Amino acid sequence: MKWEDLQTPCYIIHKKELERGIALLKQALADNWKRSIVGYSFKTNALPWALLEMKKAGFYAEVVSEDEYELAERLGFSHIIYNGPIKGRASFLRALQSGAIVNLDAERELDWLEESGLRDVTVGLRVNFDLETVCPGETSAGTEGSRFGFSYEKGAFARALTRLDQMGVPLSGIHLHVGSKTRSVAIYRGLAQMACRLKKEYDLELAYVDLGGGYFGGMDNKPKFPDYMKAIREELSTAFSPEKVTLIVEPGTSLITPPVEYVTEVADCKETYANNIVTIDGSRIDVDPLHRKSSYFHSIVYGHDTPEDARRKAKKQVICGLTCMEDDRLFTLENAPELMPGDRIVFHKVGGYTMCLTPLFIRYFPPVYAEEDGVYTCARGHWGAREYTMGSMIGGDAVYWEEQKKKEHAQK
Ligand SMILES: Cc1ncc(COP(=O)(O)O)c(C=O)c1O
Repeated sequence: MKWEDLQTPCYIIHKKELERGIALLKQALADNWKRSIVGYSFKTNALPWALLEMKKAGFYAEVVSEDEYELAERLGFSHIIYNGPIKGRASFLRALQSGAIVNLDAERELDWLEESGLRDVTVGLRVNFDLETVCPGETSAGTEGSRFGFSYEKGAFARALTRLDQMGVPLSGIHLHVGSKTRSVAIYRGLAQMACRLKKEYDLELAYVDLGGGYFGGMDNKPKFPDYMKAIREELSTAFSPEKVTLIVEPGTSLITPPVEYVTEVADCKETYANNIVTIDGSRIDVDPLHRKSSYFHSIVYGHDTPEDARRKAKKQVICGLTCMEDDRLFTLENAPELMPGDRIVFHKVGGYTMCLTPLFIRYFPPVYAEEDGVYTCARGHWGAREYTMGSMIGGDAVYWEEQKKKEHAQK
């Protein structure tokens, strides 16, 4: 399939670019820390095609729910990191039994562990602490503080250590992911410093330190993997040996955002009393599902029939999406050649927190193509009414659909 033949709207994953990101991360880790594990963050984009690429790269699955845990199992991941505050009890026990790395997030998981009677397990504790004071204005939760993990300041972390000790379960690691607005290198210095402080204060003998995700990747003028890993080494090596302790990182967006594009086509152009409205066949919900972005990396491919330089310039054109929401507006073009139906608008770097957050709203899931050396293969077909109803027939609605089928049969 050629680019011109792609059904729009669609996502494209550029395989070589994905591989470049993976190689850069691996090299940065190898250059800075002898023992390391990469856990790809499923939540960021759990398209099975992408997950299998991550598995091929030797990455662990980093999952945060019963469904994600089952997805990792289904796709044949033999190495799993189980995080998050809402682990399912059944998968929690399976994870412990199968040797997965389980980072405990709350008291009830200590109860489950105690009740399980399992002792030969790999568990870590997620640490809740005040990183905002170290990096003012940078953390996602700000002065409200994170809601995850065992509080260092309130003594919950120390109590969890005591409980594990009483159970006879050794603590294998600590988990310090903290979401940030800035993705700055300083955040990782702060996390690594905290890991060192905990080791010294509680005399911890750890097999791993997990610093989570939240890195930039593939962005000009932003930190790169080597910048983060160098800073982590500088801090972490003051208390941990790179030969003995495993550094775990859990990247999501830094790997999957850069290689993904969203291709749309201009469907209609009209003039209103206020504006020139250009409606595309894609939607803001596919590139900015949380409606947080104020600008988009994009490019325009003008149709061949009327070349770009043969067009009149329009003072202002408002690019709007396919849904019936008034705010499905993406950006405004000023003093640019007039767009026409059939022109394409391509949005770049849209692989993270997009596909996984796209709602089943008005138009169902767009297809996804994988591109390698100019050849496009379908990584996920378009979900139309057929796929939507098939999905609904699984589970709760199965009884309803069976009855419908019987009724139709009886009428024949
Ligand atoms: C525990 C944990 N690890 C990894 C990630 C991935 O973060 P990112 O996609 O920003 O790299 C997240 C994101 O929220 C997370 O909560």
